[in-house]
Amino acid sequence: MAVDLLLSRRSIRVFQDRDVPEDLVRRAVEIARHAPSSRNRQPWRVIAVKDRRILKELAGVTPGARPLASAPLALCVVVRPEVSPTTYLLDGAIFTTYLWLALHALGLGAVWINTLRWPRYSEILTIPPDEVLVAALAVGYPAEHPPPRPRKSVEEILTWL
Ligand SMILES: Cc1cc2nc3c(=O)[nH]c(=O)nc-3n(C[C@H](O)[C@H](O)[C@H](O)COP(=O)(O)O)c2cc1C
Repeated sequence: MAVDLLLSRRSIRVFQDRDVPEDLVRRAVEIARHAPSSRNRQPWRVIAVKDRRILKELAGVTPGARPLASAPLALCVVVRPEVSPTTYLLDGAIFTTYLWLALHALGLGAVWINTLRWPRYSEILTIPPDEVLVAALAVGYPAEHPPPRPRKSVEEILTWL
């Protein structure tokens, strides 16, 4: 059920030593492209990185990127600001979330790696200056099953007017 899918997603940072089939990646992207975007502009594209040397290099940029060192795959979401000047980051974040959930639905684990503060990621991936790397998902078959992380209560976050 859709609710179970949403509630069972976790950040997975430890992966089995097993490649992710390309057709599964294709399927995940096929699902994620149904994400909504402002004016349906879809300012995104995905760079799938399997090259272990590049993955290791990305993993070394900052401690938060360490899951990429053992992941067999990174899915890097790139947007073009000129396509959606006010909402490219929102559109890219929504797309990344859809992609994460699609991967989970297909039995894969992933964690979002924040790439926004470090231009080095874009250099490694040779992303042109007119594109922004919104996020990288470290992806693989899960080798850990973490419990849910604490969340704020509904009372803390819901107000009615
Ligand atoms: C925008 C964003 C950036 C994140 N950046 C990182 C990161 O750089 N490294 C990392 O290990 N996890 C990162 N995470 C994962 C969060 O730590 C994780 O989603 C949060 O602790 C809740 O845990 P859960 O995903 O298992 O529910 C990021 C998540 C989001 C949404």
